[in-house]
Amino acid sequence: MSDDLSAHLKSRCKIVDEALNRFLPIAQTRPATIHDAMRYSIFAGGKRLRPILCLEAAEACGGDLQKALAPGAAVECIHTYSLIHDDLPCMDDDDLRRGQPTSHVKYGEGIAVLAGDALLTIAFEILAGTDLPAPCRYATGDLVKELAVTAGSRHLVGGQVLDLEGEGKDVKLTPAELKYIHLSKTAALLTSSIRLGAMTADATPKQLEALSEFGTNLGLAFQVIDDILDVTQSADKLGKSAGKDAATDKSTYPALFGLEKSRTEAAKLTAKAHEALESFGRKADQLRRIADYLLDRDY
Ligand code: IPE
Ligand code: IPE
Ligand code: MG
Ligand code: MG
Ligand code: MG
Repeated sequence: MSDDLSAHLKSRCKIVDEALNRFLPIAQTRPATIHDAMRYSIFAGGKRLRPILCLEAAEACGGDLQKALAPGAAVECIHTYSLIHDDLPCMDDDDLRRGQPTSHVKYGEGIAVLAGDALLTIAFEILAGTDLPAPCRYATGDLVKELAVTAGSRHLVGGQVLDLEGEGKDVKLTPAELKYIHLSKTAALLTSSIRLGAMTADATPKQLEALSEFGTNLGLAFQVIDDILDVTQSADKLGKSAGKDAATDKSTYPALFGLEKSRTEAAKLTAKAHEALESFGRKADQLRRIADYLLDRDY
């Protein structure tokens, strides 16, 4: 990653963290256990990719970064809830997340389930407070529906269901089935993060469509790389367990096609993501740089 991009992402992370800190109840709020647990997982680390994409999309559409902060914080709350639940013993059963003990290891399973519930719920409280420009072709309800559909049983939750059901099978999933899981569990939230940012900039339907195409391909590439890193990197580097997908017989890109083909596929998807941005010209340069960095990332 270039020094420029690294500095840019760092400053964006800081803006996002400050917003999250403002939006989440302070840790001492009664009952303190749950607010402490929510903050523990949110501030454990994380690349803040989804909120950053939300801010970049707003700017690419000529909008004001400040207006994208509420949806940005909301998608990070949904993402973090999905990680807390993904790590539970009844799901992927992981002890390490963002370089720290997982929520259920630190607080027990009951509080971890509830911290996930609370983050999922507060995401909508935060999103409902979005300050849209005037005039704007979108209403707050449009943003709420966008995130609700994406987080629900037809997308994120549905993808997690199929991922779970695909585990430990003798017969691997077909490539089309695997793509459907990746689209649902990962690409949908990445795409909505981008769309929500664009909506705060009163993006045209054409711009939204192009950004959806960008997000879908970026999101698919993102999960292919996540699956590759699970094979090639250490837990130390990732801040989460490694080698876990093979150990639990998950259907993943590397499991189905091998590492080389998986890398080629991720590069192809990233190229498609770039194509989708053509009509934006230089305004989408940060989105392009982030897509390239995500392809080359090592954690
Ligand atoms: C991990 O997401 C879960 C997947 C969807 C693959 P990230 O790699 O964005 O996790 P953080 O937010 O940086 O911890
Ligand atoms: C997680 O996919 C996707 C969601 C949390 C919705 P993984 O199970 O591959 O994510 P990691 O590898 O644990 O971060
Ligand atoms: Mg999982
Ligand atoms: Mg997992
Ligand atoms: Mg993974």
